[in-house]
Amino acid sequence: MTLTALGIAPDQCLIAGHWVAPANGARLVLSNPSDGTALCDIARGDADDIDRAVLAAQGALAGDWGRGTAVERGRVLARIGQLVLENVDALAQLEALDVGKPLTQARADVIALARYMEFYAGSADKLHGETIPYLDGYTVYTLREAHGVTGHIIPWNYPMQIIGRSVGAALATGNACVLKPAEEACLTALAFGELAMRAGLPAGALNVVPGLGAEAGAALTAHPGVQHISFTGSVGVGKLIQRVAAEHVVPVTLELGGKSPQVVFEDADVDAALPFLVNAGIQNAGQTCSASSRILVHESRYEEVLSKMADRYRGLQTGPALADLNVGPLVSNRQKEIVDGFIAQGSDLEIAARGSIVADAPAGGAYVAPTLFAGVAPEHTLAQDEIFGPVQVVIPFKDEDHAVAIANGTKFGLVASCWTKDGARQMRMAKKLRAGQVFINNYGAGGGVELPFGGTGLSGHGREKGFEALYGFTTLKTVAAFHG
Ligand code: NAI
Ligand code: MG
Repeated sequence: MTLTALGIAPDQCLIAGHWVAPANGARLVLSNPSDGTALCDIARGDADDIDRAVLAAQGALAGDWGRGTAVERGRVLARIGQLVLENVDALAQLEALDVGKPLTQARADVIALARYMEFYAGSADKLHGETIPYLDGYTVYTLREAHGVTGHIIPWNYPMQIIGRSVGAALATGNACVLKPAEEACLTALAFGELAMRAGLPAGALNVVPGLGAEAGAALTAHPGVQHISFTGSVGVGKLIQRVAAEHVVPVTLELGGKSPQVVFEDADVDAALPFLVNAGIQNAGQTCSASSRILVHESRYEEVLSKMADRYRGLQTGPALADLNVGPLVSNRQKEIVDGFIAQGSDLEIAARGSIVADAPAGGAYVAPTLFAGVAPEHTLAQDEIFGPVQVVIPFKDEDHAVAIANGTKFGLVASCWTKDGARQMRMAKKLRAGQVFINNYGAGGGVELPFGGTGLSGHGREKGFEALYGFTTLKTVAAFHG
C-alpha cells in the first residue's frame, strides 16, 4: 500500500537517524480529505520528543555533520534530490491522499522538492564571505556560519515545497534541523526524512517530530537549544512564535500568507492573462500562501474579464485527489467550514460563477465549489482577509493610482502582479506594489526555486528560496586580524 511504500513508519518520529515511537506513546489520526476516512495514525509528539530531537541535532553538529565540508553537504543534498525524483509517483500518491491535492499538482510539488535539493546542493560550496580593506596592518574577512539547530514548523498546504525551501537551505549551510510538520498532513515529511537517511545524511542532521502545534510546535519554539526558527502558517501563530522566540532572542523567518492581487490594465492581453488569473486562485483549492485572491481590473475591461473568468469557473471540476480534476477537496472539514463561512459573508455580493463538485465525490470529503465574486468593494472582508479556499473577488478600478491604492490596501504584502504592455507602467508598478515578489505579465513565474520569496506587513519577514535563503540560515562573523 502506498502509505508504507517508501518505508516510513507513519506513527513514529524520526530522531537521531531512527524511527522511534513518541515518548508518551500518544497518537493522532490522519484523515483523507477526499472522503473523510482515517488514513493512519501519526505520532503525537510532545516536548519530550522535541527535546530528544534537539539533542540529536546538537549531536550531529558536534559530529560528522558539523565537521563536514560544504562539498560533502552539497553531495548529500544532490543524492536526496535524486532519490526524490526516483520516487516521484509514490511521493505524489502520498501527498494526494494526505493533503487532498489532485495528483498532477502533487507531482509538481515532488518535482519542486527535487529542484530545491538540486539548487541547494549546487549552492552549498558557493556561499562565501568577503575580505574588507581596513586599517594598515589588518586583514579583515567575513565567515558565514550555520546558526546551529534550526526549527522548521511547516503547514499542510505544500509540505514538500516548504521542506525543500527551508530544510534544503538550512542543511546546505550546515545547520541541523528539527522539522515539525502539520498535524493535518505529515506523510511526505516523514518520507523525506527516510529518503534523506537513505541518501546518507548523517543521523541527527534532520529529525522529524509530528504532533500538534500547541504541543510539539510550541515546545520546539520555546526550546533553548534552537538557534533559528522558520515558520510558515497563520498570522496568529506567527505572532506567537515571534513572541516566544524573543525570550531567547532567536531569529525567526515568518511566511504568513497574503491577499495577493493581479492588476489588469486597459492595455492588457486579457486572453494571455486569463489562465493565470484563474489558476492562481484555484491551484491547490486556493490553499496557497501566494494565491491570487484579488483580481483588479480597469473599468474599461471589467465586464470582459469578469465574463471570461466566469466561463472558466463554470468549467472547473472539483473532486477526489486521485481523480486528478482541476480542484481537490480542502485539507480538512475544519478548513471547509472556515471557507464556507467566508462565502456566507459574501451573501450581499454577486456570485459571478461557481465551479461544480462532481456527482460521485464522497459525501465525507471537504469539497467547496470554486466561487467567483463580482464587483467587490476593496474594504469588504472577502477582499481583505485571507480565505485559503477556491474563492476570488473581482474589483474594478479607475486609473493607475486607484489600482495601486487598492492593491496595497490590505495588511498583507506577499506577491502581486500587473498585466500591461506599457513598459514605463510596468517599471512604475514594480516599484509601487507592496510585495515580496512582483510579476509582470505573468503570475508565479512557474514557482522558481531560484527566486527569493517572502513578505512584508502581515505576510511576514525574512526571505526563503533562491540564494537569499542561505543568508537567512547563516550568521555572519567578521574576523579582524592584526599582523602589523
Ligand atoms: P497554523 O498556523 O495553526 O499551522 C501551521 C503550523 O503551525 C502547523 O504545523 C501547526 O501545528 C503549527 N502550530 C500551530 N500552533 C502552534 C503553536 N502554538 N506553536 C508552534 N507551532 C504551532 O495554521 P492552520 O490552523 O493550519 O490554518 C489556519 C489558517 O492559516 C489558514 O486558513 C490560512 O489562512 C493560514 N495558513 C497559511 C499558510 C501559508 O502558506 N502561509 C499555511 C497554512 C495556513
Ligand atoms: Mg492551527
